[in-house]
Amino acid sequence: MGLEGRAAIVTGGTGVLGRAVVRRYLEAGAHVATAVRDRAKGEALREELGELVGTPNDARLLLVDADPADRAAMDAAVEEVLRRWGRLDALANLAGGYDRGTPWDLDAMERQWAANVRTAVTATAACLRPMRARAYGRIVSVGSVGAERGGAESAGYAMSKSAIVRWTESLAAALKDEGITANVVLPSIIDHPVNRERMPKADPTKWVRPEELAAAILFLTSPEASGVTGAAIPVVGRV
Ligand SMILES: NC(=O)c1ccc[n+]([C@@H]2O[C@H](COP(=O)([O-])OP(=O)(O)OC[C@H]3O[C@@H](n4cnc5c(N)ncnc54)[C@H](OP(=O)(O)O)[C@@H]3O)[C@@H](O)[C@H]2O)c1
Repeated sequence: MGLEGRAAIVTGGTGVLGRAVVRRYLEAGAHVATAVRDRAKGEALREELGELVGTPNDARLLLVDADPADRAAMDAAVEEVLRRWGRLDALANLAGGYDRGTPWDLDAMERQWAANVRTAVTATAACLRPMRARAYGRIVSVGSVGAERGGAESAGYAMSKSAIVRWTESLAAALKDEGITANVVLPSIIDHPVNRERMPKADPTKWVRPEELAAAILFLTSPEASGVTGAAIPVVGRV
């Protein structure tokens, strides 16, 4: 996909989807920095990736201690990427999650906003500086097909994941003449250990596999995807 030698930042790299995306980038020959809140989880990821992470003198994976919602920390992460690899080509905004919450539970809604929106907007704002300077960038975020319609107990999730879709459209429109694309993938249920535990009677072979989503994310952050921007792309497996 033309990702050899390119540099990507991944948020949520310690999660199930994030681990698959980081692996695919490294397999494609890209350099990856992932912003981690919990160093131990970052080190476990490094361990799991084995030789793909490179050597101490030629590190292909960089773990940066940074909460993606913290602008100063993300600015420092971007600087570190530029110092090491001299470029920043792609950002995969994968941090986020699902929390139950009624439509009158403002605290729950704010937590979902912080997890699903603040992380993506903050990481993007930090990455845009070098991307705009170079007139090249690829940004992908994660929404959810499940959030296209609100549910009685998923107010914050539906609100925040819908917001990511509208925000992606705005971002794409704002950057359309600057060589930077912005898209959002919409998974259904990801084949994730937590989903298997929560839904023991479901058939997980129908769910989208993390590797399948990773393939879509890699394409959207590749040079070849220059013609796709402002799109919300369902990646739903076999449901
Ligand atoms: N699982 C699904 O069925 C499903 C379906 C549709 C969409 N999605 C979306 O896909 C993305 C990846 O999810 P996943 O399935 O890989 O989940 P996961 O295994 O729980 O991983 C979530 C990742 O996001 C990070 N994260 C969570 N809340 C955060 C916050 N408030 N601030 C900063 N980082 C935070 C976690 O960091 P820590 O390791 O530090 O906690 C972790 O790296 C999420 O945006 C999720 O909403 C998932």
